[in-house]
Amino acid sequence: EGVTVVDHPLVQHKLTLMRDKNRSTKGFRQLLNEVGRLLCYEVTRDLPLEKVEIETPLEKMMAPRVAGKKLVLAPILRAGEGFLEGMLDLVPSARVAHIGIYRDPQTLQAVEYYFKAPPDVAERLVIVLDPMLATANSAVAAIERLKARDVKDIRFVCLLAAPEGIKRLREAHPDVKIWTAAVDSHLNDHGYIVPGLGDAGDRIYG
Ligand code: PRP
Repeated sequence: EGVTVVDHPLVQHKLTLMRDKNRSTKGFRQLLNEVGRLLCYEVTRDLPLEKVEIETPLEKMMAPRVAGKKLVLAPILRAGEGFLEGMLDLVPSARVAHIGIYRDPQTLQAVEYYFKAPPDVAERLVIVLDPMLATANSAVAAIERLKARDVKDIRFVCLLAAPEGIKRLREAHPDVKIWTAAVDSHLNDHGYIVPGLGDAGDRIYG
């Protein structure tokens, strides 16, 4: 509940290509961009519409456009940035909030090093982006930070999730719905998703 697994064949196909350890940095980056676009399509599927009057070359008509809150895309650095470009292709007028968080390799706790959000972030729908949801420490911390800025409407999009991370994020922030391309088996002792795809940040940036 609250979790949408995007099982579209194109998403599943691209994810399989990305899991392959022989995929190049260039290929991985491009695929993440492509999957970002497809996941953006899914996470915006239920945005409300309103009718506005426009004039075609032939006549006036009432036509639908997206109503309600404007979007903020909030990538968790570094790997979340890999999602950003593809999503911005579909919603070019979205604002962007950068959230710098890394996971301490020993304790697996989230450490924040940067946060910059648009001034009107509280009035917008914020879509938090991170390819990996492992322990969920990073996602929980990022969402806490946004809520401290009074953001009320938050969604989380990832590529891969561990069952442990989904449980933790749903418990910590029950109001935040999750979209993912897959839910893998488990986390290993180092907090890596298994079978996963390795360290997304390293695979994108080297
Ligand atoms: C990875 C990944 C997520 C986080 C997931 O980032 O990109 O942000 O770990 O783990 P969690 O759910 O257990 O918090 P990492 O700390 O490697 O930083 P990087 O993206 O800058 O390499």
